[in-house]
Amino acid sequence: MSDFFDNAAKEWDTKHQRVAQAKAIAQIIEQTIPLTRATKALEFGCGTGLLGFNLIEKVGEMTFSDTSRGMLSEVENKLKISACTSAKIVDLNVAKIVDRYDLIFSSMVLHHIADHKQTIADLSQSLHPEGYLCICDLDKEDGLFHSKETVPHHGFERAEIKQEFQNSGLNVIHSCTGFVNRKIINGQEVDFPVFLLIGQKK
Ligand SMILES: C[S@@+](CC[C@H](N)C(=O)[O-])C[C@H]1O[C@@H](n2cnc3c(N)ncnc32)[C@H](O)[C@@H]1O
Repeated sequence: MSDFFDNAAKEWDTKHQRVAQAKAIAQIIEQTIPLTRATKALEFGCGTGLLGFNLIEKVGEMTFSDTSRGMLSEVENKLKISACTSAKIVDLNVAKIVDRYDLIFSSMVLHHIADHKQTIADLSQSLHPEGYLCICDLDKEDGLFHSKETVPHHGFERAEIKQEFQNSGLNVIHSCTGFVNRKIINGQEVDFPVFLLIGQKK
């Protein structure tokens, strides 16, 4: 799957809906969570960092992590021309998430991971007490969203992810439709809503 994202990396930011979704999700995160210069943040499955770069100036430190080297190389290029000096990159092929964070966020990644429950538990484990986990992903769909790749999950029921938050020691403090993607499939407009769940570590 990394090959797919490596090849897609250079053109990733050319999709208008992707960019708009990242902006919309970042806005909700910013409005819901108190972000300060003391906030240490991690983007999990950052891709080109669309979401993280919308929040980078609101926090004290931002770490971008992903398994695709092509995607991480795009993040590196963006960092070179940004004013930010406190950002880090973690290549999850060779390193694990070992630090603790005040804020972890992830967008459109969970449906690519077979053991999504373990991932939620691991991310929760990487939070400081009272830290926040924000997961944005597709609502359950019938498999039409991905035309080129196969994925382990065709979205999720929100109730299931909420339950996993609770199982992982997180209180759900916010749940909403963060954005609605629209695609033309067989000549018909089809909507693919994405949810944003925010949990706070007990
Ligand atoms: C659909 S893209 C989303 C990228 C970005 N979050 C965005 O919204 O534009 C999914 C991303 O998850 C990454 N990914 C897939 N499996 C992963 C894993 N097990 N751990 C971390 N990242 C992963 C991919 O390399 C890819 O960059």
